[in-house]
Amino acid sequence: MVVVLLAANEERGAALRAFARGADGAAVRRGLTAERFHGREGQVVTVAIAGARRRLLCVVGLGDAAALDVDAWRRAAGRARQAAERHGAARVAIAVDERASSIEHIVALAEGFDLAGYRFDKYKSDAEHGALVGELTLLTPTPLPAADVARRLGGVATAVTAVSTVRDLVNEPAAVKTPTFIAATAERLAADAGVEIEIWDRARIERERLAGLLAVARGSNEEPRFIRMRWRGPGARRRVALVGKGITFDSGGLSLKPAKSMETMKTDMAGGAAVIATMVAAGRMQLAIDVDGFVPATENLPGGKAQKPGDVIRFRNGKSVEVLNTDAEGRLILADALALAAAEKPDLIVDLATLTGACIVALGPQVAGIYGNEQAVVDRLVTLGRETGEPLWQLPLVPEYRDDIKSPVADLKNIGGGNAGSITAALFLQEFVAGRPWVHMDIAGPAFTDKELPYAPKGGTGFGVRILLRYLAELAATPPDVPPRAAASPARPRRKPPLAAKRR
Ligand code: BES
Ligand code: MN
Ligand code: ZN
Repeated sequence: MVVVLLAANEERGAALRAFARGADGAAVRRGLTAERFHGREGQVVTVAIAGARRRLLCVVGLGDAAALDVDAWRRAAGRARQAAERHGAARVAIAVDERASSIEHIVALAEGFDLAGYRFDKYKSDAEHGALVGELTLLTPTPLPAADVARRLGGVATAVTAVSTVRDLVNEPAAVKTPTFIAATAERLAADAGVEIEIWDRARIERERLAGLLAVARGSNEEPRFIRMRWRGPGARRRVALVGKGITFDSGGLSLKPAKSMETMKTDMAGGAAVIATMVAAGRMQLAIDVDGFVPATENLPGGKAQKPGDVIRFRNGKSVEVLNTDAEGRLILADALALAAAEKPDLIVDLATLTGACIVALGPQVAGIYGNEQAVVDRLVTLGRETGEPLWQLPLVPEYRDDIKSPVADLKNIGGGNAGSITAALFLQEFVAGRPWVHMDIAGPAFTDKELPYAPKGGTGFGVRILLRYLAELAATPPDVPPRAAASPARPRRKPPLAAKRR
């Protein structure tokens, strides 16, 4: 299948003549007219080329030419892959014109194509094995430096593998991906990548006084695990801590969710999976940065021993929390992990969590909320998210709303007053980072998709992994006298600014 990418209202004839040599021009024109092809984003028309045996021409709309960002090419390549699979084409060639012939564009095309090839069909009896596209050729108008292309495509392959790991773990039923299963998977992947890993069992979790993890795990017959990973990069000059929520099933606990809301709650470990896969990829890519991973993993179930609304737990940092709603469990297990991470004084803590339904209400299913106490880091991550096609939108840590998580009986309570649920959850987390530079991503919406996206089938998306990998690679390449928050602009040298944020 030959693929041509056209922006809205582009001169179709010339482009098609240039790329579809041997094509039946009239048939192509008829196909485009019949489908009212105008190059709108997402429009895809596939036409059989007369004469050529099993040859297909696929025209993919890019949308408004003036608004083409790099993700538009990633999406277009993903759609081409989807069309190829629908038509059973084994080999695909994308004709790349001058607009998209930089390495950045080539990389985006390859990445979109690879990501769109993901399948989770291990439980399908009639999986169409062998129907998958095997090969992509990118036809560029001018040759690109082969070594650079090879190096960058290696990076694409590692990132796509990491995304697929997250998708696999998210899509796996909760009956299979218990906390022990997640830990064993992390252990196997880490060993392959030269990443150190420790799995803490219940006894160790008790010794470490991880009160939130123990409280949430009480209702479950599955043993909790705390996954601690370490990547020590060659020549590293910075240390970043990654924290991920690892609830392998969220029933809500005694504050039980309604049936409908529970349908997708096997995905509540997406943040944890993103952290595990990112750590492994950092190792595979030999990134010159130290990364510490923290993933608390447990089920959240009701049961005779389950924690109850009104219970008070005390965290290792001394703070007491009244648990008024056992369905606000993510912040409890993250509090432990953030406190542990902060105690090691990293340059930056980043957490990812499918934390609140309120964030989906605010931003919808495709955009994650981002919060942080270092504006330049937030800004940089938002920019990277735009480039990777993982959109982030900053929400405010409104200091006034901190009153909403005050408890009459303990230092804090684990729910707010009903408004701004994603913000009060973030404010709760902030209580455990000890003033360290910190960013929180509420990925409740985009971690999972219930409709096919240009380069993600229904199910787990792997959201966050590609942003994190890019950011870590960027920090690794930034001189040590530039703090992480200024890594966005390595050209602007700074004199030893304080790394720790001011405490409030
Ligand atoms: N895991 C959920 C959040 C969630 C909801 C993720 C929908 C993905 C899709 C989280 O543990 C939760 O239940 N949050 C509650 C908090 C509330 C009880 C304060 C929520 O958002 O309703
Ligand atoms: Mn919950
Ligand atoms: Zn949850």
